Amino acid sequence: MGDPTTRRMGQVSDEEGQLSYGSYLKVPELLALQAPLSKPPAHDELLFIIVHQAFELWFREMVFELEAVRDAMFEGDAHRARHLLRRIHSIERLLIEQLDVIETMSPQDFLQFRSNLSPASGFQSAQFREIEFISGLKEPRFLDGATEPGERERLGRRLEEPTLWEAFRSMLESSGLPMPEGDDETCRTSLLKMARDRDAFADLWYLSEDLLVHDELFSLWRQRHILMVERQIGTKRGTGGSSGAPYLRTTLDKRFFPDLWELRSYL
Ligand code: HEM
Repeated sequence: MGDPTTRRMGQVSDEEGQLSYGSYLKVPELLALQAPLSKPPAHDELLFIIVHQAFELWFREMVFELEAVRDAMFEGDAHRARHLLRRIHSIERLLIEQLDVIETMSPQDFLQFRSNLSPASGFQSAQFREIEFISGLKEPRFLDGATEPGERERLGRRLEEPTLWEAFRSMLESSGLPMPEGDDETCRTSLLKMARDRDAFADLWYLSEDLLVHDELFSLWRQRHILMVERQIGTKRGTGGSSGAPYLRTTLDKRFFPDLWELRSYL
């Protein structure tokens, strides 16, 4: 590691040309990114910012991995898809746990700075919508909520891209299990065939289970987030302008892979 006094912002190596921990990871830049607004300073605002920023970093990694999972499925590589899905599951479990940290804030302490946040809200997280879009929940109305440069275009591109389900369907098709779009009966027959003959379709069956875990963990995050929201603000409206917890409850039935959930009923 180089002498910290010789490091400069944006540098990847110190003055002797050696890579250092701080320069590689851009630690000085990272630590300059937390800008609390409250005056006088509210003690818990730093925690609030860091938890949200940590979420956005993990969302970035999730989007990156979800793209790779989709590519792997289009390439017919079930093992790679499963390997990366398990990484995504770990991140999702971490994100559920991470809400514990923000719950150490008391509602009274949150009120010290909450009024400064409006109309900003997690509702505007473009990366959260990217995860939803890639996973199969494409809702064009979220493009209207884009606030930062380039976000609308990025979300627009995601709307055009294939979803995880389309990639999985292509794998089923390549294994002789027809999945014609709009033909629910034929698709259900193919999925049942896969589920009932786990020896012949082991790769596909276990991959479908890993996709389902992604769906389940994301839904658990939604539930956990609502409980945390109710604990913090009760029935108050959201800073983003929604009804708050009642709005969030309307999102609970969202599923990435409804066909995989439905399949259980027919087994
Ligand atoms: C004190 C902590 C928090 C409170 C009180 C809170 C409250 C809310 C509320 C009321 C909404 C509904 C939209 C609105 O009107 O604002 C919402 C949406 C959302 N929040 Fe939070 N939130 C908190 C922490 C977090 C954290 C740490 C994240 C992580 C990124 C997050 C991500 C989201 C997302 C992605 C949505 C949109 C959900 C959807 O539309 O399905 N929130 N939040």
